[in-house]
Amino acid sequence: MSRFGWWVMTVLALLIAAYAMGVLFMPVMRPPFLQQRFLIVPLAAYLHLGGSGIALAMGAFQHNSRLRSRRIDLHRWMGRTYVVGVLLGGVGALALATISQYGLPTHVGFGLLATLWLFSTGMAYRYIRTGNQAMHRRWMIRSYALTFAAVTLRIYLPLSQVAGIPFEPAYQTISWLCWVPNLVVAEWVILRQRVEALLPQLRPTAVSCLLVSLLGAALAACGGQTAQKSQPPADTETVDSGAPPAAPPLAANPAQEPETPVAEYVVRGVCPYECCKYGNWTLLDGGVLRSEPNPDADSVGQVASGAAVQTDEGAMVLHPPGIAVVVPDTSKPAGLAVGDTVDVITYTGAKVARVRSQGGQESDVGWGALRMMREPLQRWWVHMTDPATGQTGWLQMGGVRSQTVGAPGSCSKNK
Ligand code: HEM
Repeated sequence: MSRFGWWVMTVLALLIAAYAMGVLFMPVMRPPFLQQRFLIVPLAAYLHLGGSGIALAMGAFQHNSRLRSRRIDLHRWMGRTYVVGVLLGGVGALALATISQYGLPTHVGFGLLATLWLFSTGMAYRYIRTGNQAMHRRWMIRSYALTFAAVTLRIYLPLSQVAGIPFEPAYQTISWLCWVPNLVVAEWVILRQRVEALLPQLRPTAVSCLLVSLLGAALAACGGQTAQKSQPPADTETVDSGAPPAAPPLAANPAQEPETPVAEYVVRGVCPYECCKYGNWTLLDGGVLRSEPNPDADSVGQVASGAAVQTDEGAMVLHPPGIAVVVPDTSKPAGLAVGDTVDVITYTGAKVARVRSQGGQESDVGWGALRMMREPLQRWWVHMTDPATGQTGWLQMGGVRSQTVGAPGSCSKNK
C-alpha cells in the first residue's frame, strides 16, 4: 500500500475508533437507538464498541510494512490486541445483529459480516502460530477489510441521505454494501501480490503496475487457477494440519526456473517459527536422515513418523533465492540504489534481510527497504537424534507438531 493510502486509511480508522470510544464512555453522545441497545443488550454493546474500536485502531498500524519490519515486537503485541479486540467486538456484533434496525436484511448482512470477521481473523491467527507468514498476511488483509466496514458504513450512510434515499432501504442495503466491496478489494490486493511474486524480474514502473493489474484481473476471471497449478506455494495445504509448512518442490514453476543454475543458500542456526526452539519433538512424518541438509547427501538412517526425537539445530536451504527491488527507506544501506534488484538470501521469517546485489556484494537490509518480487523457495532441515535407534542426521521437515516447536512457555525462555 502506498504511504498516502495508508495515511488516509489510518486517519479514517482512528476517527471512527474515537467515535466508538466516545459513545462507549459518554452516554450523552449515544443516538436514541444505541441507548436502547445499551438497555436491551448492555454486555453485547460494551463488548462490541470496546473490542471493535480497539481492533479498528490497532489494525491500521499492522498494515504498515515499515513499522512491521522495524518494530516486530510491537507488531506482535498490537496483533494480539487486534485479535482479542475482534473476538470481543465480533461476539458483541453477532448479538447486536440479531436485533439490528430494519429487520431480516440487516440481521443477515451484519450477522454474516460478524461471522466472516471472526473467521478471517481466526485463520490469520492460526497461520501465524504455525509460522506461515504469507497466508497470515492474506487472512489479515481480509480481516481488516471487514473491520474497515465500520468506516465505509459511516461514509455510505451520509452519502445515501445526501442522495435523498429513504433511510430504511439505505440502511438495509448498506448493511451489505459496507463490507462486500471491501472483500472484493482485499481479494484484488492479495491477487496482485501473488501475481507480482510470479513475475520475478518485474520493475515497479507505472507500466508494470498496469500489466500486473491486467494479469491480476485475468487470473481472477480464471479463479486464480493458473498460479496455483504452476506453483504450489509453500504456504498452503500442509499447514492446515497444524504443522509447519512442508518443503516446497524445487523450481516447481517452469516460468521461474532459472536459465543458469542459481547458487543454493544455506542459512544455519534457524528455527523459523515464533517461539520455535529445538529440543524434544514428536515427528508427524518420518523420513531419511542425511549426513548434510541436502537430499543428495549420504543416507545415515531412518526415522519413523511418531518418533520422539531430540533436535539440536536447523538449517534453511534457499533455492532459488528470493528477488526484491530496493525502495526508498532510511534503512537502505550504502551501495544499494532505489530501484536495484537484489537476491534475498535469508529465509522470510528472519528479522533482517540479507541480500546480494547484482555485483555480488552481500549486505543486511531492513525488510522495509525491500519490495519482494519473488519469495525464496525454502526447505527446512532439522538435525536430530533418534534415541530409539541412536541414529543422528538431518531430516527435511514435512511435519512436526506445532505445540512441540513452539512449546508452551518457550517464547519467554527464548527472548
Ligand atoms: C466488522 C464487523 C462488525 C459488525 C458485524 C458490526 C455490527 C454492528 C451492529 C449490528 C450494530 C448495531 C446496529 C443496529 O442496531 O442497527 C453496530 C453498531 C455499532 N458499531 Fe459495529 N460492527 C462491526 C464492526 C465495527 C467496528 C470495527 C467498529 C469500530 C469502532 C464498530 C462500531 C460501532 C458503533 C460505534 C456502533 C453504534 C452505532 C453507531 O453509533 O453508529 N463496529 N455494529
